Amino acid sequence: MPSAADPPVIQAEHLAVGYGETVVLENLDFTVSRGDVFAILGGSGSGKSTLLRTLIGLQEPLHGSVRIAGAHPPRGGAPTYGVLFQSGALFGSMTLAQNVALALAKWTNLDPRTIDTIVRSKLRLVGLEGFENHLPAEISGGMKKRAGIARALALDPSLLFLDEPSAGLDPVTSAELDDLIATLNGSLGMTTVIVTHELRSIFAIVRHCIMVDGASRGIIARGEPAALRDGSDDPQVRAFFNPRSRAA
Ligand SMILES: Nc1ncnc2c1ncn2[C@@H]1O[C@H](COP(=O)(O)OP(=O)(O)O)[C@@H](O)[C@H]1O
Ligand SMILES: [Mg+2]
Repeated sequence: MPSAADPPVIQAEHLAVGYGETVVLENLDFTVSRGDVFAILGGSGSGKSTLLRTLIGLQEPLHGSVRIAGAHPPRGGAPTYGVLFQSGALFGSMTLAQNVALALAKWTNLDPRTIDTIVRSKLRLVGLEGFENHLPAEISGGMKKRAGIARALALDPSLLFLDEPSAGLDPVTSAELDDLIATLNGSLGMTTVIVTHELRSIFAIVRHCIMVDGASRGIIARGEPAALRDGSDDPQVRAFFNPRSRAA
């Protein structure tokens, strides 16, 4: 069990993210605790993906710092975390098994039989047992997301980043994906950082969140989703969590 004395898994200090001269978000200070399901919320174009890419070290901070487990994100080494990107694309000419095997072949010296065993176990973990030899085009959208998660889990990361995993999925498939994400977080003891705007997902699986805003370029709310829904004074935050009252 994580305790209050545990150092945060992610620590962002005075962080600014963006592109060259263009600051998308700035003055970000937040931490993510071990074992949390932590969401980055905000409107389209507010900088959620940019922030996520900076957290995992794909983009340099414009200012400030990101620490993951106390260290700056590694560059060039084997990733210590798994990522399902917003585009989430699997390699279309490779089978699901080949997609999941990629990182294992690249970063480990395991023999092909062992890699095959691990690949099967990862696909089983996400409910895709028996689909090892399917191509991405032969499976549904929800299954593609699951395969992407299996690929993200190939190297047994303790930290998983998911950028809008349920975008484009029907409600039932999206709810199943939420169940999978919650199960992985609970049973594997993972820390999960998720970008989403699906209220159902947020209330089902997210424990803590920050909401970012493109206009003010900062964090406009933080805390537990239900507490923000019921208690925030900010009209934008209220509107996000209570969409039906938006017109009222
Ligand atoms: N590669 C890029 N170069 C320059 N600007 C970008 C790039 N990617 C995104 N942006 C801009 O950064 C802002 C935030 O984008 P993004 O992080 O994708 O938002 P979100 O994920 O919240 O929808 C947007 O104004 C977008 O146009
Ligand atoms: Mg995005």
